[in-house]
Amino acid sequence: MLKIDEVRGVVIAEGPEGETVHRLDSPEAFSLVSKAWVRCGWDTKYVYSFSWMGRPVIQLPEDMLRIQEVIYRVKPDVIIETGVAHGGSLIFYASLFKAMGKGRVIGIDIEIRPHNRSAIEAHEMKPLITLVEGSSVAPEVVGAVGAMVAPGETVLVLLDSNHTKAHVLAELEAYGPLVTPGSYIVATDGIMKEVVGAPRTAPDWDWNNPLDAAAEFAANHPEFSLEEPEFPFNEGVVTERVTYWPRGFLRRK
Ligand SMILES: C[S@@+](CC[C@H](N)C(=O)[O-])C[C@H]1O[C@@H](n2cnc3c(N)ncnc32)[C@H](O)[C@@H]1O
Repeated sequence: MLKIDEVRGVVIAEGPEGETVHRLDSPEAFSLVSKAWVRCGWDTKYVYSFSWMGRPVIQLPEDMLRIQEVIYRVKPDVIIETGVAHGGSLIFYASLFKAMGKGRVIGIDIEIRPHNRSAIEAHEMKPLITLVEGSSVAPEVVGAVGAMVAPGETVLVLLDSNHTKAHVLAELEAYGPLVTPGSYIVATDGIMKEVVGAPRTAPDWDWNNPLDAAAEFAANHPEFSLEEPEFPFNEGVVTERVTYWPRGFLRRK
């Protein structure tokens, strides 16, 4: 249990081993309060309340800001994203590329609904976006997407489709080889592991999640390391992201 005492300026956490008290200006307090905030955001479906340039984007805004930091640093030629939904995240990456003057986006989804496809195709960012319809792990889809990447291009991959461990592992195997050294493949939504027991969760999310897939992939692929990208700017004391994507960044060495 967590208590926030703003008058005393402390956070009090009660656990099996007793009570710990943390000052509000400590990273420990920030972490505890953030954990509770993320859980409350899960229960209230807060991530389903954002859009980017007119299209719904199902992400925590901090994850978008943080991936922007990585994209600006890596400067990929191509972002491949599995899981398009309404297209908001594709539009977001494309808009960064438009501002950067380089880069394009390939979005893969097992079902691109007609109204979503029309809205993406009518969007200002469409010239930078290629849509591929089909399962992200179907060999013909993996082959077609691979053929869209030219030799020497820098590639970053974001996995945001079916979040079972087996599916994410299959995606990591399929798209990992396309990732260029210094760039990343990101298994998003590892938050599933941390919200077991909350509404709209399943008990097997404890192991059946993207975070466990990323850990297993890293253990079997020494060419990748699980690495949290550093904040390029930080004058505060917090060094960990508030995120739906915990321990999901695999960096190609
Ligand atoms: C969480 S949504 C994607 C959200 C989107 N990236 C965003 O940020 O707004 C997940 C999407 O994955 C798609 N999906 C589910 N299974 C898939 C599969 N096997 N291959 C490709 N896409 C899949 C669903 O159709 C759904 O549109």
